[in-house]
Amino acid sequence: MHFIVFEGLDGAGKSTLIKGLAADLKAKGQSVVVTREPGGSVLGEEIRRLLLAVGPDAPRPRAELLLYQAARAQHVDLVIRPALERGDWVICDRYTSSSLAFQCGGRGIEETGVQWLNQFATDQLEADLTVLLKVSVAVSEQRRSGREFADRFEQEKSEFHQRVHDHYLKQVAQAPEKWLVLDGETKNPQALAVDLRRELETRKWL
Ligand code: TYD
Repeated sequence: MHFIVFEGLDGAGKSTLIKGLAADLKAKGQSVVVTREPGGSVLGEEIRRLLLAVGPDAPRPRAELLLYQAARAQHVDLVIRPALERGDWVICDRYTSSSLAFQCGGRGIEETGVQWLNQFATDQLEADLTVLLKVSVAVSEQRRSGREFADRFEQEKSEFHQRVHDHYLKQVAQAPEKWLVLDGETKNPQALAVDLRRELETRKWL
């Protein structure tokens, strides 16, 4: 039973990797909860809708940060912690590192406050491993261009996404032991799944 988080730019390929890992674990007889932020609870999904909507009353950066953290607190209490207590694996699409990358890196909010809020919202629950699916901004934009609908973040300029990307790398440099960085740009989904499985086997989690 482990708590694994996936991070990266939109369009990095997180969903495919998550689906593959969940299927692998289930095939081995493990119980798995796959969830995402913002979301993962009824309140969380409501907050997600408020956060991603485009329009004149879209959340301002500080309101945005607090909405993510409110969704996260609910998610940890109602979904993540109970699942870990049952002995399930938890695979989560985005977590605290997204608030640092998007709200600090992207929006320019000061880091100390966000770190404090991350700890408060999660009641200190950290992931056992965070997987960064690394792709360049150009590739992420190219993959997203095929999508019909662009949410508020996807409509941001390249410079915003570049700052998010750079902030992820800064987080990895600050605590490399917490991260697994995978090359989502040149590797295909099968090769990425193999790299991930190898890492989990090395850790004796599989
Ligand atoms: P995402 O999982 O990318 O949704 P989708 O793949 O359906 O577009 O998450 C939605 C957006 O929320 C994403 O652009 C990143 C952003 N986000 C933050 O800015 N801060 C956070 O703390 C989290 C969890 C997400």
